[in-house]
Amino acid sequence: MVEEVSVGHFIWLTAAGGDDGRPLEDFAVRTLQLLCSHCKVEQDKTCLIQEQEAIVDHISDGLLVIERDGVVRYMNSTAGRLLNLVPAQSIGKRFADLLDFTPIIQPIFESGVGYVDRELIIDSPGRHLHLVDTAIPIKNARGEVVSIVNTFRGIQRVRKIADKLQGNHARYTFDSLIGKSEALRVAVDAARKAARGFANVLLNGESGVGKEVFAQAIHNASERADGPFIAINCAALPRDLIESELFGYTSGSFTGARKEGRPGKFESATGGTIFLDEISELPLDVQAKLLRVLQEREVVRIGDTRGIPVDVRIISACNRDLRDMIRERLFREDLFYRCNVIGITIPALRERPDDIPVLANHFLSKSAALLNKPTFRFSPGLVQKMCRHAWPGNVRELENCVERMVNLCEGDEITEEDFPEFDQRKDVPAVAAGALPMSLREAERTVIEAVLRECRFNITESARRLGISKPTLYSKIREHEISMERGLRQ
Ligand SMILES: Nc1ncnc2c1ncn2[C@@H]1O[C@H](COP(=O)(O)OP(=O)(O)O)[C@@H](O)[C@H]1O
Ligand SMILES: [Mg+2]
Repeated sequence: MVEEVSVGHFIWLTAAGGDDGRPLEDFAVRTLQLLCSHCKVEQDKTCLIQEQEAIVDHISDGLLVIERDGVVRYMNSTAGRLLNLVPAQSIGKRFADLLDFTPIIQPIFESGVGYVDRELIIDSPGRHLHLVDTAIPIKNARGEVVSIVNTFRGIQRVRKIADKLQGNHARYTFDSLIGKSEALRVAVDAARKAARGFANVLLNGESGVGKEVFAQAIHNASERADGPFIAINCAALPRDLIESELFGYTSGSFTGARKEGRPGKFESATGGTIFLDEISELPLDVQAKLLRVLQEREVVRIGDTRGIPVDVRIISACNRDLRDMIRERLFREDLFYRCNVIGITIPALRERPDDIPVLANHFLSKSAALLNKPTFRFSPGLVQKMCRHAWPGNVRELENCVERMVNLCEGDEITEEDFPEFDQRKDVPAVAAGALPMSLREAERTVIEAVLRECRFNITESARRLGISKPTLYSKIREHEISMERGLRQ
């Protein structure tokens, strides 16, 4: 090409140089200039290639180009790191000789159809890989696949993104815990100690005392603060979905399962904390599986045989006495000891009345700020009345109650009249007109039987309507000797 151009220039130079009569010198100069500019183009090209290589090498995804014969044409350093291979030593070799598993991309050479973001779990004797992979076939003019461009990332990174988007993070810290009572301080001190270690924690306390706030605060003060915090309410999960929610499933493992399978909450919580709220409501067979996960530190998805390592700290919460449940054979003793390495009891609000005014004022300023009414205050009589109230719903009830009062009150001062709950709590529910007087025990039996019948003996639904847990319902059924056979005859 240089020659061609040079010849062209020579002709032009000869013609143009006519008068000066120095065409040869001019030619030499111009040729040199051309050569130099050609070198510059080559240099620029090399620079561009180097720059592109550096870009591809530094992208955060693994990149792998595989040719038709299975030979690795290109591997960037991220791919090398994820696959535990040295790119320079791998390029030019057959993929099958580098890894002890068959790549699943081979069929793409025939089908010409790639895939996007497919989850890959490779559990070969030599390595455990868990990736999200995209494979794009590159075709020639005849439409044949000549190579496949594979881009992939480690599951940890994908989980991090998912956590961010799903909001799987804990917002409460120990600073969020309001209260000045000695009883609360003892619980907070124990929780702070627990946060420093790795042991599983069991939080015990009535509903609304702040168990979830404690769990989040422990997570945020622990070394796992950057990892996910995933909360699961064991009582709220439908019985037949609980296992797949916790442990995940593979494709087609049960009717209704998504085609490509799904990770469970344990996998998603890896590197962080899982909060098992109302752990007492876990069915016994799921308790056995949970125990296995805790012992083996890996989960096996439903329909799979491969174990996936999980590194999760478990904080469980419970508002029932698990020791009683162990005696009634409703909770596994071995699981209890695994979960209760550090047990913390959060006292009910009525057991720490010192916290009531502080918490009430805290919620008052929160609600008042939202409503732009900063002058709101409680009358001294109201504060006294609140301190005498039993707060069966604990801090949650107090928070809701303050919010309602702030919303309803018209003046600046909220008084006793704005707090009707105190008196209402003492009311006994009216007996239905015409109902025969009966003992409390009889009444309980009648109500349970009626609800069971209404719910066609569906335990989950009946327990929900009765406002009690399933194990409690079971023990009431036994206690009252209610026959469940009626459900079959109906
Ligand atoms: N000590 C506390 N300081 C501030 N807010 C609290 C405190 N304890 C509980 N809360 C609030 O009370 C509500 C119920 O707390 P939660 O942790 O969900 O209770 P539990 O899990 O025990 O049922 C939440 O809105 C929480 O923010
Ligand atoms: Mg809760």
